[in-house]
Amino acid sequence: MTQEKKQAMADNFEPKITAFVCNWCTYAGADLAGTTRLKYAGNVRVIKLPCTGRIDFMFLVRAFEQGADGIMVSGCHPGDCHYNEGNYYARRRWRVFRDLLDFLGVEHDRVTFSWVSAAEGNKWAALVNEVTQKVRALGPFDNYKKMMRASKFGPQKTA
Ligand code: FES
Repeated sequence: MTQEKKQAMADNFEPKITAFVCNWCTYAGADLAGTTRLKYAGNVRVIKLPCTGRIDFMFLVRAFEQGADGIMVSGCHPGDCHYNEGNYYARRRWRVFRDLLDFLGVEHDRVTFSWVSAAEGNKWAALVNEVTQKVRALGPFDNYKKMMRASKFGPQKTA
């Protein structure tokens, strides 16, 4: 592939971003952004869960396997979790998960952890734009797919 063709592909690259959000705060904040007709990048696909405490970080690994270029995790602000402390568990898991990202060779900028309340539609829209820009600058996440294909854990080809 020529350098110009590669550059043209990079210029047209639209990242696929998967967002795991809690039902009570961030999902409502994203909904508010929609109902107030805020304009923001359309690169994010939202997966709603009851609470960030429910998010198994293997969900994130699976999202990368399925083709995500970037991931967002967002829930209620500390002290506001509908289930009292689910977001504290998520925050602790995130600290451990960052080490796993290093082990897997995933840039930290591909995963964004944040708090967005139900009243913060503007914050949600700004965050989506920021994450989209960040992931677009990193380019397609091909390394992970190549690594999975090469490993015994990747999809197995049948004869
Ligand atoms: Fe939102 Fe727990 S309910 S983080």
